[in-house]
Amino acid sequence: MQIRKLNDLATLVSLSKRRGFVFQSSEIYGGLGSCWDYGPLGSLMKLNVKRAWWNAMTRRSDICGLDAAILMHPTVWKASGHIDGFSDPLVDCKDCKTRFRADNTDSYINEKKCPNCGSKNLSEPRNFNLMFKTHMGPVEDTGSVVYLRPETAQGHFVNFVNCQASTRYKIPFGIAAIGKSFRNEITPGNFIFRTREFEQMEMQYFVKPGTDEQWFETWKELRWGFYKKFGFKMENLRFHPHGPTELAHYAKAAFDIQYLFPMGWSELEGIHNRSNFDLTQHSKFSGKQLEYFDEPSKEKYVPFVIETAVGCDRMFLAFMCDAYREEVTMDDKGQEDVRVVLGFHPAIAPIKAAVLPLSKKPELTSVAEKLRDQLAEDFDVLYDESASIGKRYRRQDEIGTPYCVTVDFETLNDQAVTVRHRDTMKQDRVPIADLNQYVQVGMASWK
Ligand code: GAP
Repeated sequence: MQIRKLNDLATLVSLSKRRGFVFQSSEIYGGLGSCWDYGPLGSLMKLNVKRAWWNAMTRRSDICGLDAAILMHPTVWKASGHIDGFSDPLVDCKDCKTRFRADNTDSYINEKKCPNCGSKNLSEPRNFNLMFKTHMGPVEDTGSVVYLRPETAQGHFVNFVNCQASTRYKIPFGIAAIGKSFRNEITPGNFIFRTREFEQMEMQYFVKPGTDEQWFETWKELRWGFYKKFGFKMENLRFHPHGPTELAHYAKAAFDIQYLFPMGWSELEGIHNRSNFDLTQHSKFSGKQLEYFDEPSKEKYVPFVIETAVGCDRMFLAFMCDAYREEVTMDDKGQEDVRVVLGFHPAIAPIKAAVLPLSKKPELTSVAEKLRDQLAEDFDVLYDESASIGKRYRRQDEIGTPYCVTVDFETLNDQAVTVRHRDTMKQDRVPIADLNQYVQVGMASWK
């Protein structure tokens, strides 16, 4: 058998639409640039991605959760440096009207030429802020301007004292959050890789100054371990250290975890040593003390912050790319038979088990429907009675369902069903009464 991996995003975009993972936003109106909707399977899977991350963070005894508002006091963005520094230098071509980035367009950097028409009739680079602006309240004047947050992290900083005081956590401790962020990206694209509206999963870990470098290493290891635990092929991941020109304005040190997407190695997650930049800035702009008092040593200090930041949509895409495989065999006539499989870790798979009656005869479908309800007590399940059993197995393989449960005529006698495993295609006979536990145990011990 030959295994083919994913080699272009178009295959995934098409599968996503056909099977209900991801649709283009406002498709019936021609779509809206770089915005995407998660469909019946995608919305389930996205919840699973978030749950995996959330549990990895907040089930630790030293990390609490937070769900901060998207709209924040405008001074937050002054303090954070986003109003002054969160921008890209843009150049306009006066001939073909193309607008492009001055800092990553080769034809401009080398020859001061438009990448589209080659003209040299260009504007000077102008800084374009990536934050989306809107107005709060009925009057649209400069005093009512608010921003859609470009990162969730600032919610953590402004709530540092609230979280510490209410949990009574001692340093080192962390705050984790999942939420929408917005950036008016100049070059969005590659499906859900870079969009203008996206979800972030960010954790800020507050540490004593001087211990930050050690915690930075620890969080690099912990985040690497997360991808390993959820079944990523580790050869598709690597660390990329930020050089001095890549470092964000707040960062003392930074590493990306990059993933080998079909378009090449690209950032999946960032791990940053943000020093005490943010808390110091918010203290200065708000006039509030954002310090930590260490009782045993009677020391007062502004903590340093180690941040782990990943896009939920980007992690979703990485999970899909990594899980996709085509198993190719030759049939008797020498024709290729292709089994498309999304080999997700069961915690990530949108559907854990599919219930498939062997025929549409009521004596089988009535048992199968009851079994669907029994499994749905514990798992996201799907019922399918149309087409041949072989076709139905293939449909489930393509959406990554780990278990297919077939109700056959023998079931009426032995009260047992056949469970077929997605990856090995091996089959087991399991009593109906034990089925939920069988799936539970199988998922927990999945390798
Ligand atoms: N608080 C730090 C921060 O926001 P970042 O590297 O700008 O750092 C963190 O973003 C992560 O958020 C990225 O590694 C990426 O996974 C995700 N992300 C950033 N911009 C994105 C976009 N336009 N679309 C989708 N995901 C994005």
